[in-house]
Amino acid sequence: MILRSALLWLSEHQGTFDFVRGNALARRMASRFVAGETLDSAIDAVRRLEANKTKASLDLLGESVSEREEAVRARDEVIDTLDRIAETGVDANVSVKLTQMGLDLDYEWCASNVHELMTHARQLGIFVRIDMESSQHTERTLRLFHERLHPEFGDTTGVVIQSYLRRSAKDVEELISAQARVRLCKGAYAEPPEVAFQRREEVSKSYVGLLERLLANGNYPAIATHDDPLIEQTLQFVKAHDIPPERFEFQMLYGVRRDLQEKLRRDGFNVRVYVPFGTHWYPYLMRRLAERPANVAFMVMSLLKEGLSRP
Ligand code: FDA
Repeated sequence: MILRSALLWLSEHQGTFDFVRGNALARRMASRFVAGETLDSAIDAVRRLEANKTKASLDLLGESVSEREEAVRARDEVIDTLDRIAETGVDANVSVKLTQMGLDLDYEWCASNVHELMTHARQLGIFVRIDMESSQHTERTLRLFHERLHPEFGDTTGVVIQSYLRRSAKDVEELISAQARVRLCKGAYAEPPEVAFQRREEVSKSYVGLLERLLANGNYPAIATHDDPLIEQTLQFVKAHDIPPERFEFQMLYGVRRDLQEKLRRDGFNVRVYVPFGTHWYPYLMRRLAERPANVAFMVMSLLKEGLSRP
């Protein structure tokens, strides 16, 4: 728990990034979870998944931008990504973070950036998922989604709900009423007990409640987890309620539980893999390490050794 908190704290301190980025082991660790630093490498990864009948969601890494130019650059790169998906015909959609589009700078300005991106995506017929970030952004993300995105772009867009948040049951009901598309995940940020369940069992219990509501009444929900018991619960629920595989999809992260991805696909379920790419991989890598502290000791030792041997 302490290690998880420390890693999540570090994930928000970009200052450590230059140091980490130069470290060969950190880069190797990142390459397990990140398809590469370029769009070409991401498209190659999508093609490899496609050869296995697995779909993808491309994520241009980047978040919490502090300058408008950065947000404009990210928006344009996402538009390039949409164009490449259309040109190559690969089976992929995209995921974006609102703080990458300037949410922390100016709500209205961010909304217009996302509107431009969404308009382009709709012309190409490509779905765009709005990722969910820390709880400081939940309200604004859902507001922008409910007021601006979903009414205009309908099924071309969807949002994410985190089962660790205490508010999520209410948010899911609102999204079901709107028949909006939802990806359900546990949540990857450090959150205080006032807003989020802290114990694993509570987060899982909340996840099960939400997945049942979404599978029964939602619009093509995405069950995003690598957790065997939760996947088993999903399989039991859809079997008991005669919900066919085309009504939902499983989603997993690039480089995580490839065995499970393969098994579900072989069993006839839709599987989509979230494929991050780009140079801003540091916070993403730290969140993945926080989920699996087993890898961390090795990496920290190597970083320390390298740091100590510097003049
Ligand atoms: P859990 O962490 O309990 O892992 C279950 C098992 O999966 C582990 O025992 C291990 O075997 C394997 N595993 C999980 N993570 C691993 C890792 N990093 N390395 C190696 N093995 C690992 N979060 C968020 O806050 N906002 C978002 O928008 C998204 N979007 C998103 C999209 C998709 C497609 C996925 C799969 C996940 C997200 N997440 C997310 C992340 C999510 O909230 C959560 O942090 C991770 O999925 C890990 O939780 P699990 O449900 O897999 O369970």
